This record gives sequence, C-alpha cells and structure tokens, in this order.
Amino acid sequence: MSRIENLLGEMTLAEKIGQLTMAPSGQAATGPFRDEPTREALRRGEVGAILNSWGVEATRDLQSIALEETRLKIPLLFGVDVLHGHKTIFPIPLAEAGLFDPALWERTARAAAAEAAADGVALTFAPMLDTARDPRWGRMAEGFGEDPLVGARFAAAKTRGFQGGDLAAADAIAATAKHFCGGGAALAGREYAAVDVSERTLHEVYLPPFRAAVEAGCAAVMAAFNSVAGVPMTAHVPLLRDYLRGQLGFDGVIMSDYNAIAELIDHGVAADLVEAAALALRAGVDLDMVSGAYRAGLPQALARGLVEMRDIDAAARRVLRLKERLGLFDDPWRRFAAPAAETRELALDSARRAITLLTNDGVLPLRAGLRRIAVIGPLADARAEMVGPWTLAADPAQCSTILDGLRAALPSCEILHARGVEIRDEDVSGVGAARALCAGADLAVLCLGEAANMSGEAASRARVDLPGRQRELAESVLETGVPVVTLLFSGRPLIVPWLAERANALVATWFLGARAGEAIADVLTGRVEPTGRLAITWPRDRGQIPIFFAERPASRPAKASDPFTSKYIDIANEPQFAFGHGLSYARVELTNLRVASAEFRPGDRIRVEIDAKNLSDRPAQETIFLFARDLVAAAAAPVLELKDWVKCELAPQESATIAAELRAECLSGLDATLAPRLTPGEFALYAGLSADRARLLSARIRLIREDAAATV
Ligand code: GLC
Repeated sequence: MSRIENLLGEMTLAEKIGQLTMAPSGQAATGPFRDEPTREALRRGEVGAILNSWGVEATRDLQSIALEETRLKIPLLFGVDVLHGHKTIFPIPLAEAGLFDPALWERTARAAAAEAAADGVALTFAPMLDTARDPRWGRMAEGFGEDPLVGARFAAAKTRGFQGGDLAAADAIAATAKHFCGGGAALAGREYAAVDVSERTLHEVYLPPFRAAVEAGCAAVMAAFNSVAGVPMTAHVPLLRDYLRGQLGFDGVIMSDYNAIAELIDHGVAADLVEAAALALRAGVDLDMVSGAYRAGLPQALARGLVEMRDIDAAARRVLRLKERLGLFDDPWRRFAAPAAETRELALDSARRAITLLTNDGVLPLRAGLRRIAVIGPLADARAEMVGPWTLAADPAQCSTILDGLRAALPSCEILHARGVEIRDEDVSGVGAARALCAGADLAVLCLGEAANMSGEAASRARVDLPGRQRELAESVLETGVPVVTLLFSGRPLIVPWLAERANALVATWFLGARAGEAIADVLTGRVEPTGRLAITWPRDRGQIPIFFAERPASRPAKASDPFTSKYIDIANEPQFAFGHGLSYARVELTNLRVASAEFRPGDRIRVEIDAKNLSDRPAQETIFLFARDLVAAAAAPVLELKDWVKCELAPQESATIAAELRAECLSGLDATLAPRLTPGEFALYAGLSADRARLLSARIRLIREDAAATV
C-alpha cells in the first residue's frame, strides 16, 4: 500500500482535518486579522500548511515542530504570494504581459521560484489568472490583462516557470492558478463584489487561462472570493467539481482564498461554520485558508451527515499527495538550497521591455547635450512604490528610482528634483517650487501616478485618474513651455486624456520592480528601444468602462454619419489607447496582408503573410497581432478575437515579409451547447500593431467542409 494510504489509515479525524487547514503565520497580513496557530495546535497536528511564512529561521522553527513533535511527523506546506518575484522584484504582471513573450514570462517565474524555494517556500499563490477588463478593479495589476489567449499562454508559461521540470526539485515551487473564477467582472469594479456573467462569457473569456494552467500541470487552484450568478465560487459545485475536476480532469489541490469558507456566511448561503464547511468540502475545496471553518465545522458536519468521511479522506489524500510530489516527505529541508543565480540582470531586462511608450512627439529618445533636467513629481524618488502592490519578501530599498537612473545615465547633466505634491494628499504648497525648477531647464520629467497600494487587492478606485493634486502640478509644469516627458507609475490604465494631449511624451512605467529607474533611463535615453505593448485597453473616459477590443457586435455598429448607431453623443467610442498599443522609436509600416489560400478545411494550417517596412534609421522590434472574426456563427462572435502574435525585428530601412500560420481549429467558436465548433463559412482575418480597428489590415477566408451539413 502507498505511503499516503498507510498514513490515511493511521490518521485520526482531527489529524485529517489538520491537513485541510492552512494557518496564518503572522509574518505578513494579506487579509483581515486571523489568529496564528498555537504551537500546541501544531503539535497536535491540527495544521497542515502555513500561509505567508518564509525564511530559514521562521520556516525551520515551525517545520521542526511538525517533524519532531507531532504523532505522525507529516511535514508542513509553506505557501507564499510570489506573484512577480520573491526578493528580486520583476515588473507587475500587467506590465510583464505587455512583453508578449512567453519565454520571458517563464524565465522570471523560474527565477522567482528559485529565490522563494531558497527561503523554504514550497508553493506560491500564483499565477493570478483573472481576465480583467475594468480598471476600477485594482487586481488588474496582478494579472495578464484583458485577453484570454494572452491569459492562456501566460498561465502555461508561469506554471512551467514556477514548477520547473520536477516538482520535487530544490528550486521548484507548486503553482496555484488563481482566483477561479470571474473576479475581474466584479460588479462596478468593486473588490469582492458579485459577478454575473453568462455561461458563454465564462467559457470564452474567464475559464481559458485556467484550462491552460491545468493542461500545463499546475499543482493547485484557488477558488475566488466572489459569487458567479449567485453561487459563491468557494461552494460552486458545477464549476469546481463538474468543470474543473470533471471536465478538465484536475486532480490537484483546490484551496479557498483567505477566510473565504467562513465568508460563505456573508454570502448568505450558509447559516454557520458547519454548513459553510460542508458546502465547501462538497464542492471540492481541499484546503481551508485561515478561516478555521474545517477545524471548527467538519466534525459536526460529519456527525450530521452533511459530509461523508470519504470526502474528508479524498481532500486529505490530495493534500498529502501534493506534499509527496513536492518531495517534502523524502527531504523537507531540500528547499533551503543556495539562492538562484544572479536574477538582477533579468529584472533589468524585463523592466526595460515592459515600458510602454504611449505618445511621443519626437522628444524621445532624449537628445544628446541636455544640460539640465527637472525631475518633478511624487513618484520620482518613491523607491518603496517601485515594487508594486503584491510583494512580501522584497526590500524596496533595493529598488532604483528614475532619479537614480537618470543621474547614472546622464552624469554630465544637472538633474534637479522636486516632489511638488504628494501622491494622494491635498497640499499644493510645493507646486510653485516645482514649477520654478523648470526655469532654465532643457526638459521636465513628470513622475506621476498611484502609490503601490492603490492597486492590487482591496484597491478598487471609482475615479481611475491621477490621485490627489497631481493634475494641478502637471498643468503648472506644462504651462512653463519646457518640453515635458510624463512617466505614469500605476497598476492600471489611468484616465488622463488631457495629459496625453499636452505632454510631449507619455510613458506607462507601471511598477517595474528592482531595476525600475535604470530601465526607464535606458529607454528615455534610447540606449534601449521601447518595445512594451498594452495588454489592456486604455479608456479615454471612465464612462466607457468596461471597454475592451473583443466586444460582441452591436445591432447597429457605430457609424459617424448615422445617429441611430451604437455610439456616445458626448465622447468618442474609441479608447485612448488600443490593446497592443505602444510606440517604438522606429516606425514600421505593415501592408498587404495575404493568405496562401482563400479556402481552408478543418485540420489545415492557414498561412498568412504581411509585408513590413522599417521607415526609420533605428532598429525596429515590433509585435504584430493577428485577429479574426467569425462572420456568421452560432452566437454573435466578437468583432475581433486575438488568434496569435508574431515578433519581428527589422534593421533600419529594412523590408521583410512576415509569415505566420494559424491552425484552422483556432477559429472555432462555442456552439449553442458551448462545445467548440468550427463553423463552415466566411471569416475575416486582421493584422496590425494593435487592436485599433482603423489601422488593421484585413483578408477574407472561407472554411469549407465537404461533409458540411447545411447550416442555416
Ligand atoms: C488574499 C488574496 C490571494 C492571496 C491570499 C493569500 O486575500 O485574495 O490572492 O493569495 O489572500 O495571501
């Protein structure tokens, strides 16, 4: 009999429930206060996992109790939020998604895993796979943006990166695909609020990244806080049991989110902890994160026949199997190996490439010979903000600021600095001095945006614009007539049409992590080309939210000349910046999208070609997006669906033909039963440097199927 079955046969009910209990460590608070477990509780085997404890001292102390003082010596599982770096912080995921580079996504996760494992961590609560289309929702910062194909590739890359080739390796940590599912569609963008999306939208938009994570072998899934169509995800039998475990065949650990089992009472679906524990266990949730509901409620739930012992055994078996796969039974100390090789270079490379140049009148790259630059704004020297909203073990003092970066990159240039205003407060007494700094300056660099904790969890904002009195500061500097480069540090698009209009250049610098300042200076000076592209549509006005490129067609698509069409009477429909937008210092022109054959059959590979020309004297690195639209489908297909992207590099003045191949099956849609189906008929293909429909190249293709049943 296997080790796990032998163990289960020996375990008491309390010890089994202990394996289903994750307790807080007190080292980092990521939710409302919860009591840490007593050492007595640990000794009785009432805790099987610890939330957010890391470091040799802390983890060894707790692990020693489990291994030396409990009856069965079952090792503890240490889980920590390692979203985009552990000690060495990489750009926030929303920024990193904009590299459109799965290999890089995997590399940063691999590096983060090695650092975390060296700190005794065996599982991360990442990747965060919430498709997000509402910038009021602060957690957009933690994910891959708005598109499910990007999400699926991000999910697979991050799962591979965190877990490596062998989950028992000393530098591997278990990946947790979270938050399953739909949180990005929270009502009015408000954190923890209810979600009400159609079954079709769930399967088209919110589930694909999780499917990809499961197919990539993720070891765990975390259920989301929110309800979907009235059923809290922590108790959602159709999506957890039937879809995730049944249809996708996921047999890893499902965990609740922080205190979420107890919060089934707040959802109004459980009268007490006993009912809450029973609902969650029956839905397939194995691990109770810090609510204590399983420990307090399952014995009674069992006694009242609300759950069966086989449910408890099944959950305990999955947790024990995860520990076995992680090698914790064989060598619980293996993960204290030496930290990974130098990851600070990777942090610099990823930060450089996440920077997104939104507008530029030619002021960038900075010309040689600048004598004086006025660096103004509350984010210029904000070292601690550079790590973004989700970092626990990082030391912000390790981060470089744009002031550091510019001073190092331009040693002969006088770099002056004034904050002018703070990030959020109302004091404008510093605006005058900041403005005065511009006198005699060759350039002003405005460093504006959010504090790191203004995005991430519990950071929904109704007004997704510049907080505090930063606009006043910016307008005062703009009035001086000095050329202005504006850097926006944020975890979401900020709605600043007036700034996009008036600044000489606008750069999305997100929260770039350890090497932020150097990376920004490298791009501003032209030492590195700006290659970041938006993984999210950037609204022009908060009244447009939610706004995303893959919308279903309106019955009367917008037409400027016709009032009776789908448009606003007070602002344009178009976003400020489209998905995929991002300028280079070079200028690439795409022409002549063509397909090898206008007809294709199931199983075919559809070859497309595009001509690209670099019209500039600088090297070009572009991302070309391929979209499609099923013109007649079982359900109205989105006006654009992302099907692939290809990178292209062009030397100055170089022309090239860029080729790509799409599998016919990638054009499938979901039929009336939500099953994937390739519908015979016409498709439109599009190619472009963003989802800006006014600039897309297009071609038509037709799926033919000899045995095609006549379709209405
Ligand atoms: C938080 C977050 C989740 C995180 C967990 C543990 O509430 O929702 O993303 O992994 O608690 O810190």
